[in-house]
Amino acid sequence: MAFLQAEHLDKVYGSGDAQVHALRDVSFEVHKGEFVAIVGPSGSGKSTLMHLLGGIERPTGGRLELAGVEMFRQKEEALTIFRRRQIGLVYQFYNLVPLLTVRENLALPLLLDGREPAPGQMEGLVEALGLQEKLNAFPAQLSGGQQQRVAIGRALIARPALLLADEPTGNLDTENTVQVMELLRRANRDGQTIVMITHNPDLALQADRVMTIRDGRLARDEVRR
Ligand SMILES: Nc1ncnc2c1ncn2[C@@H]1O[C@H](COP(=O)(O)OP(=O)(O)OP(=O)(O)O)[C@@H](O)[C@H]1O
Ligand SMILES: [Mg+2]
Repeated sequence: MAFLQAEHLDKVYGSGDAQVHALRDVSFEVHKGEFVAIVGPSGSGKSTLMHLLGGIERPTGGRLELAGVEMFRQKEEALTIFRRRQIGLVYQFYNLVPLLTVRENLALPLLLDGREPAPGQMEGLVEALGLQEKLNAFPAQLSGGQQQRVAIGRALIARPALLLADEPTGNLDTENTVQVMELLRRANRDGQTIVMITHNPDLALQADRVMTIRDGRLARDEVRR
């Protein structure tokens, strides 16, 4: 059975004249351990799809199963707990908590789940992210690239089975992009399934599979290895 199964996903925002049909009849499966890139023009529905896969928005139609659980049949609270344990999300616009330090932002997903970082875990992560000097800084005191890395660290810290990343390198220079891709690949080697949205064709080619979204539809699905 597939790890992730999307069937006929539809998403409509708004109503009447303001109605936007952001996703139309999107179906696919992802296997455990796959590294999938999602590409497509601006406004084609990529972030919408990621928000559905991450369980932070509900579809207008269709179903989604992750690790044997039908996500949108769950009540809000059960879905929140499921999401916290199974899914790490890197948003297109970071979503860091402004009043928490880097260290606190990173630990947040564990704290919300009543857990704490294992000994050495925070140090290892922070070193991989290159944020040793910034642990006590607040998001507003960081560059865009540093904020991006905190967002990635926050998504990885609970070792979620599924990591969803929306343009994780969108604001990074070449050197930081290479570092972030290395982090994602390492997480993937450790067994995490990754779905990454990107505008960068070179990065998409590093994935096992490239899905193209166009006008809300899955226009192409190419398995590369
Ligand atoms: N909350 C919302 N309310 C209304 N319309 C929305 C909402 N979120 C997205 N949309 C619309 O849905 C469509 C798809 O948007 P989405 O953010 O998924 O695109 P995208 O492929 O991620 O684009 P980009 O590459 O620019 O990030 C767009 O037409 C957008 O305006
Ligand atoms: Mg987007």
